Amino acid sequence: MKALVTGGAGFIGSHLVDHLVESGFEVVVVDNLSMGAISNIKYWEQVTIYVADVCDDQFMQQLLADERPDYIYFLAAIASVADSIERPAETHAVNHTAVFNLLEHIRQIRLPIKQFLFTSSAAVYGNLPELPKREDSRVAPVSPYAIDKYATERFVLAYGELYDLPTVCVRFFNVYGPRQNPSSPYSGVLSILTDCLKNQRPFTLFGDGTQTRDFVYVSDVIKALWLITEHRVQHQVINIANGLETSLNGIIQMYQEIAGQQLEIKQAEQRGGEVDHSVASIGKLARLNYKSEWPLRRGLTKYWEGE
Ligand code: UD1
Repeated sequence: MKALVTGGAGFIGSHLVDHLVESGFEVVVVDNLSMGAISNIKYWEQVTIYVADVCDDQFMQQLLADERPDYIYFLAAIASVADSIERPAETHAVNHTAVFNLLEHIRQIRLPIKQFLFTSSAAVYGNLPELPKREDSRVAPVSPYAIDKYATERFVLAYGELYDLPTVCVRFFNVYGPRQNPSSPYSGVLSILTDCLKNQRPFTLFGDGTQTRDFVYVSDVIKALWLITEHRVQHQVINIANGLETSLNGIIQMYQEIAGQQLEIKQAEQRGGEVDHSVASIGKLARLNYKSEWPLRRGLTKYWEGE
């Protein structure tokens, strides 16, 4: 079995690649290394790695024809709400157009895939009051990032139904863990917090810290993705989360306790396009026999101690 992982040198992608190799898959990675690194891939010698951009349509078309993967995991993305507000055209090209083009090539060459998995985001739910977010909750995407993710989900599912392709979408909540790159101001908050604590740098808190998120450790995410593959789930959207709501203040407090250090915190205004409260219902995932192995304190401790 051959799997193509776009964004496979990135944070979540590289953990998925490790798992696929360990499960006996032949793995092909496409990554432009904008946030990822080949050193993230544990078994890099066993993996075919293309340093290329998913927006290079001709390249992607040729890749499909040459490699003919059985499974496609689309994880390449510019994964930041704030970045999408700064650079909506660039993020749209990656987060929407690249996925659409790949689907279209699959349809045209009638590639007999076993699963096409698109990674969407909790951001699609936006700021509507109902919590926890179920997959059938109303959506209200408010940032270019969230709009792209939602529109792409619709295409992925419609292509699945219309052209009989086994497609599935997952909505990641706030994933954290080793290999999340802290280098950009748009990086995930836990990678930035870790960097600030390790290097005694001040942390900028956007807003008053009462905003909430559902933080999920990357190993749990890989387990969930694998269950979705094993159960051959198709034509559905599935939340991937821990199912627990934690405020930013709460997680900062817990992380300081684990690290045994105090952070210097600078207050700044809330960022535009932000969601105030986010927590998932993970009932659908639970029906696939998913159980979290990494409650927040355990996951944060492991993250702090290193891989
Ligand atoms: C995150 C993910 C996004 C995912 C979404 C799903 C990242 C970079 N973004 O977006 O891909 O689809 O969850 O829920 O992983 N914050 C600070 N200081 C900082 C950085 C962030 O206060 O230096 C705050 C933010 O303003 C926000 C919270 O921390 O309120 C979380 O921010 P962030 O990690 O960027 O994640 P989301 O915007 O929730």
